[in-house]
Amino acid sequence: MASSTAAALVRPAQRVANLSKDVWYVTVNEAAASCSTPVINLGQGFFGYNPPSFVIQAAKEALDRVDCNQYSPTQGRLRLRKALSGAYSPYFKRILNPDTEILVTTGANEGMLSAFMGFVEAGDEVIVMEPFFDQYISNIQMAGGKVVYVPLHPPEKGASEVCPASEWRLDLEELRAKVSEKTRMIWANVEIPCWNRHNPIGKIFTREELEAIGKICVENNIIILSDEVYDRLYYKPFTRIATLSPEISRLTITVGSAGKNFYATGWRVGWLIGEPHLIKYCGAAHTRICYSSVSPLQEAAAIGFEQADQVGFWEESKKDMQRKMALFNEIWDELGIPYTEPDGGYFVLANLSKVHFPEDYPFPDHVSSRARDFQMCWWLIKEVGVAAIPPTEFYTKETEKEAEDYMRFAVCKEDTVLEAAKERLRKLKDFIR
Ligand SMILES: Cc1ncc(COP(=O)(O)O)c(C=O)c1O
Repeated sequence: MASSTAAALVRPAQRVANLSKDVWYVTVNEAAASCSTPVINLGQGFFGYNPPSFVIQAAKEALDRVDCNQYSPTQGRLRLRKALSGAYSPYFKRILNPDTEILVTTGANEGMLSAFMGFVEAGDEVIVMEPFFDQYISNIQMAGGKVVYVPLHPPEKGASEVCPASEWRLDLEELRAKVSEKTRMIWANVEIPCWNRHNPIGKIFTREELEAIGKICVENNIIILSDEVYDRLYYKPFTRIATLSPEISRLTITVGSAGKNFYATGWRVGWLIGEPHLIKYCGAAHTRICYSSVSPLQEAAAIGFEQADQVGFWEESKKDMQRKMALFNEIWDELGIPYTEPDGGYFVLANLSKVHFPEDYPFPDHVSSRARDFQMCWWLIKEVGVAAIPPTEFYTKETEKEAEDYMRFAVCKEDTVLEAAKERLRKLKDFIR
């Protein structure tokens, strides 16, 4: 049977039927496949190098153990929950109970899906800050929730000057106006949750900003999902919203990721931390979604946490990422292109408003119909050989204009790759006006 006929006979569920070609498809598959030179991929935030050897060794040893190759308890291996309690209790300024306050999940992603499945009913509203990590949206919609957006506004001088990420601004009145009796959760990554380490901006909310967000949540009984996956890569002091007050703690679920912490995004080990009345229902959803998460890599992550301080890994990892950031940003300084210096994480946002690709460039329809940054992204892949992420993917149509001059580059790559990308980006000189 022809595949088009077969496709006509099956009806997909609404929650997946209308998925468009997203940014990952455009940058990773389609464009890269048709390019003559191998593209240097600074788009996706996967690491271009291996986890540290003490963690890799732990993973190899775990594979030799019978118990590590079988189902883990649904809430996660006790050794990892204990290691997480040991590592995070000092930050939370109370002892986290490994049995009731920590849930190990299949990456941060599945943890967040479990939180939505655990608390969002059909028609409930979830507030998300723009720019958002795109996975949030489908996670909320899968649970039947309605996404309500609040934009973070870019710095006024973003097109002409290098600006710290902290200058991206949340208008609290705008946020307050979006709260309704249906608001169930707020996504913080800054995010309003989403706060703290923001992908893609790298903005860290100040204590005052978080207190203001927390106040709105307490007044309205809104659960806060605080995405803190980049919590070991911060370049400024950072406040965890869950620690601000007992009232805020009662409403906050904090999300973490061993993938981000240990350069192992493919391991799919993450966790949720929160008070028992929150973790219990996330755990109930997690059990139904995937039962439990990958066993040997949970064991390796546990050993990673047990040993990281001893070997100075966290400090080294932060310094190394800042060094990479500085190394890569040399190209923008050389070209006179402004960029946003992140407070955390490993993404740089460059403002390419001065770069002009040819107006008659033959973009395919699914690119020409998108904002300028999608076209810039396509052109960079085809003509310069560097893939980056167009940030309007993380905005709604109404507000995407604010971001269409920017392009997001991930610097968690080998130095040789960053140097090669810089060499290619030098070509932009001819297109700057
Ligand atoms: C802000 C943010 N949250 C969550 C995730 C997902 O983390 P994980 O790979 O552990 O599912 C990512 C991955 O890119 C991210 O950037």
